[in-house]
Amino acid sequence: MNAQYPVARPRRLRRTAAMRRMVAGTRLHPAELILPMFVKEGIAEPQPVGSMPGVVQHTRESLRKAAHEAAEAGVGGIILFGIPAYKDARGSGADDPDGIVQVALRDLASDLGDALVLMTDTCLDEYTDHGHCGLLTADGEVDNDATLERYASAAVAQATAGSRMIAPSGMMDGQVGAIRAALDANGFAEIPILAYAAKYASGFYGPFRDAAECAPQFGDRSAYQQDPAGPIGEALREVRLDLAEGADAVMVKPALAYLDILRQVRDTVEVPVAAYQVSGEYAMVEAAAANGWIDRERVIMESLIAIRRAGADMILTYWATEVARGLS
Ligand code: PBG
Repeated sequence: MNAQYPVARPRRLRRTAAMRRMVAGTRLHPAELILPMFVKEGIAEPQPVGSMPGVVQHTRESLRKAAHEAAEAGVGGIILFGIPAYKDARGSGADDPDGIVQVALRDLASDLGDALVLMTDTCLDEYTDHGHCGLLTADGEVDNDATLERYASAAVAQATAGSRMIAPSGMMDGQVGAIRAALDANGFAEIPILAYAAKYASGFYGPFRDAAECAPQFGDRSAYQQDPAGPIGEALREVRLDLAEGADAVMVKPALAYLDILRQVRDTVEVPVAAYQVSGEYAMVEAAAANGWIDRERVIMESLIAIRRAGADMILTYWATEVARGLS
């Protein structure tokens, strides 16, 4: 053997598609994908979301159909967001038994049973006329402790209507504990909580605010969501607090710009970790692909693989059904 040639040749394991497939260290499975869905009260036809091509605000009927398709494709869960016809300062639609999410949950629970996990985002921003995630004080600040009661009530309304997993996303201190206590007191001790534990105040949520019609009417969410440049230990602290309050699984959000946080969390906790590939991540890929600047399918898969590799056990993605179909 000639010593001038390398002995170690990593390329040997890359030569053929069969070899690459066999040695792959990161795989995606449909069951670990979760589809976020929007359902809007009082519309006759699904409404396209301009900044998220391919995503719609569903009617009750179109939601049923799309949820069925997700289940058929093997998607693990769907998470519902509701857009009420009327909004007010306290977000009354959030815990109204006839509020849009509760009504839609009853439809889906009867259609789908446990074919996939029916999840709900628990927050007030879609329901408040001011667009903030909680109740406001007279000074226009979000009142943490008063908001907890509203979240607790919304979570119980969702569980009553058929939600199988509650996902509080408002970043109020103590929200997981308040919701856990309310669920337990109302006979829902078996319903798990997926805490949006490390959620950053992100520009990547831009398109979601069109989809859920929940842009804050003044200010922003920086006083409750985490600063992207915040203290290094902040995400782990939030995660530990949520676990201590009874969270069954935790989430990091957004995904692609926070893969370091995802890895830290995965290496620290014993519970399942989810990552949310948010609206802006979706919109950037769709927009660039529509311009012919990137290969859409390739970038979708590459980004999901990156999120998986960084440690996500579950991924919330608007591409869930499409990707699940491609995987099966
Ligand atoms: C709050 C909530 C938001 C998202 C999920 N839950 C908006 C926000 O925090 O401003 C964003 C999701 C996305 O951008 O895809 N209810």
